[in-house]
Amino acid sequence: MTLLELQSVTAFYGPVQVLDGVSLSVPEGGAVGILGANGAGKTTTLRSISGTVRAGGRILYDGADIRGKRPEQVAAMGIAHVPEGRGGFGALTVRENLRIGAYLRRDRKGVESDIEFVLELFPNLRERYKSHASALSGGEQQMLAVGRAFMAKPRLLLLDEASLGLAPSTAMTVYDAIAKLRRESGIAMLVVEQNANLAFRLVDSATVLETGRNVLSGTSAELKGMDEIRRAYLGG
Ligand SMILES: Nc1ncnc2c1ncn2[C@@H]1O[C@H](COP(=O)(O)OP(=O)(O)O)[C@@H](O)[C@H]1O
Ligand SMILES: [Mg+2]
Repeated sequence: MTLLELQSVTAFYGPVQVLDGVSLSVPEGGAVGILGANGAGKTTTLRSISGTVRAGGRILYDGADIRGKRPEQVAAMGIAHVPEGRGGFGALTVRENLRIGAYLRRDRKGVESDIEFVLELFPNLRERYKSHASALSGGEQQMLAVGRAFMAKPRLLLLDEASLGLAPSTAMTVYDAIAKLRRESGIAMLVVEQNANLAFRLVDSATVLETGRNVLSGTSAELKGMDEIRRAYLGG
């Protein structure tokens, strides 16, 4: 079953077209990567889904076209967006950030057990539970951003460059924890990442964007074997 399908999505900033027919699909419970260089349109693709950028084309979620819906409507339909730069509330504690993620939920017990799940997944957050988010390291802030998004109980997580600004070993730890979150929760994921090596730790398949267009798509195994992917995105 397909959960999300983009068909020829376009987007403009003012007069400048930055998405020129992006198509991709995410199966229920699947994880799909969007790879590509800086400026390729990866972030804009996620924004067009979450309703923070106006888009053309079709954006089908659970069978219905959600294009043009407001961000809060999209969120209420079960799509959680972890933006580039993490978007945490620095003046609030880890605990408060996690609770804010669950603000639409009424199942108190479920919220408590999901907080416990997040703390098991990201042990650093347990140690920093009462710290202000602004006092966390970059890796911890990224874990918190993912944890907060998970607390909304989404069906689909949009993840934007979780590795940005992190040391390689920290980025790997974060990706492996997200992969575990995926295995244990069954949440589908659309994962934007410049570092293909990291993305392939998490996704089953990916599409490569160049100047707002798909130029290559395939399973992770297929893409890893392609010379052009190795040269451009795998450092060799
Ligand atoms: N708010 C904006 N206003 C104008 N141009 C933008 C804005 N955000 C991004 N762009 C431009 O749109 C293109 C795609 O950007 P983006 O989707 O952020 O790419 P990526 O995430 O792949 O680095 C780039 O050329 C970028 O400079
Ligand atoms: Mg980006």
